[in-house]
Amino acid sequence: MNRFEPNLRIPGPTALPPTVREAGARQMINHRGPEFAAMLGRILGRMKPYFGTTSDVAMLSCAGSGGLEAAVVNTLSPGDRVLGVSIGSFGDRIAKIAQVYGADVTKLSIEWGQAADPSELRAHLEANPGYRAVLLTHNETSTAVMNPIAELAAAIRSVQPEALIIVDSVSGLGAVPFQMDAWGVDVVVTGSQKAWMAAPGLAMVAASERAWAAMETATMPRFYLDLRKHRDAHALGQTPWTPAIAVVFQVDAGLELMEREGAEAIFARHETCAAATRAGLTALGFELFGDPAHYSRTVTAARVPAGFDWKAINAAVKGEGVVLAGGQGPLAGQIFRLGHLGSVTLGEILDAIGVLEQVSIRFERQVEPGAGIAAAQSAALDRMGIRPAAAATAATAGAGA
Ligand SMILES: Cc1ncc(COP(=O)(O)O)c(C=O)c1O
Repeated sequence: MNRFEPNLRIPGPTALPPTVREAGARQMINHRGPEFAAMLGRILGRMKPYFGTTSDVAMLSCAGSGGLEAAVVNTLSPGDRVLGVSIGSFGDRIAKIAQVYGADVTKLSIEWGQAADPSELRAHLEANPGYRAVLLTHNETSTAVMNPIAELAAAIRSVQPEALIIVDSVSGLGAVPFQMDAWGVDVVVTGSQKAWMAAPGLAMVAASERAWAAMETATMPRFYLDLRKHRDAHALGQTPWTPAIAVVFQVDAGLELMEREGAEAIFARHETCAAATRAGLTALGFELFGDPAHYSRTVTAARVPAGFDWKAINAAVKGEGVVLAGGQGPLAGQIFRLGHLGSVTLGEILDAIGVLEQVSIRFERQVEPGAGIAAAQSAALDRMGIRPAAAATAATAGAGA
């Protein structure tokens, strides 16, 4: 982030740390040689704890959507009854993929901004037996809402234990805790350009033993995305097809940084940045979008204030070097989104809030200079358990008077 490099605050692709950028510029290597094999082993080994699984993970050269397609076509057959629980545009997307490949899809569409409710899901499953799979989104990037996957999976397991649970965690995994095995989730998908701090181009798909077994009988067509081909090649330290080697270098470099920081510190940093973002935006008079009980920890959405044009605000914010995301689908022009995942720092959040504060004042919104930054800073300190000395002194003085 500097005069010539914007503060990229969209919910992916995320900004690349210097070592990741440099890794992407490396000379090519033989993808059938020992250096690649060692790198692939290192990547999968370091990623598995973030999935919370001991099962095999496949690395595919494709966008996150390709990973979603792989999850569907490898485990399902045309005519299978599938429940697509959708809380936004990415929930719609995976349901659509299943439909395109011939599954008999029922949509459980939740109002955008809300999370799926485990009791509602349980009631639906009790009334509608016989699903082969349930599709869930972990972190719905379009609405900045995070589903309670552990509770939803438990609800599914209690009513239809045979159903495969397929989860899109493209924008969640690596930034927030996930326990695929413990929660009984069968397939989880993530993408290189989100928490993994690399360029787009790789999707990682983890499958439970049940899901690997399901692939033997599933009949949806698949070739390039065949996960069994990936698993077999990975066992030899390779990929079935020529991989996006530059992105593989980057994911390896990103995981090296993640290894040094540690998962707990990474999760805490994301929580701190999320808390600061919410507090800062609220202090600037923006109404946060979504159910507060299920705010995402990787992206925050807020309503565009009444009477203001998002395009004009966005252009002014961009002019000051901060790149935000608008709303998608029915939320276009209604909300804006600020991403805080991957390499994000509190400093970048304070910068973004500061710019939004200045632009708000320029647009004659009633905002006290410094209010947004102060609120964001306080929320972050609070989250980190740090008490400002000045406030403590004032409180002591007050108590003594
Ligand atoms: C939750 C979620 N699912 C799926 C995708 C699709 O990933 P891609 O754009 O890499 O295909 C995204 C991308 O933003 C996402 O946020």
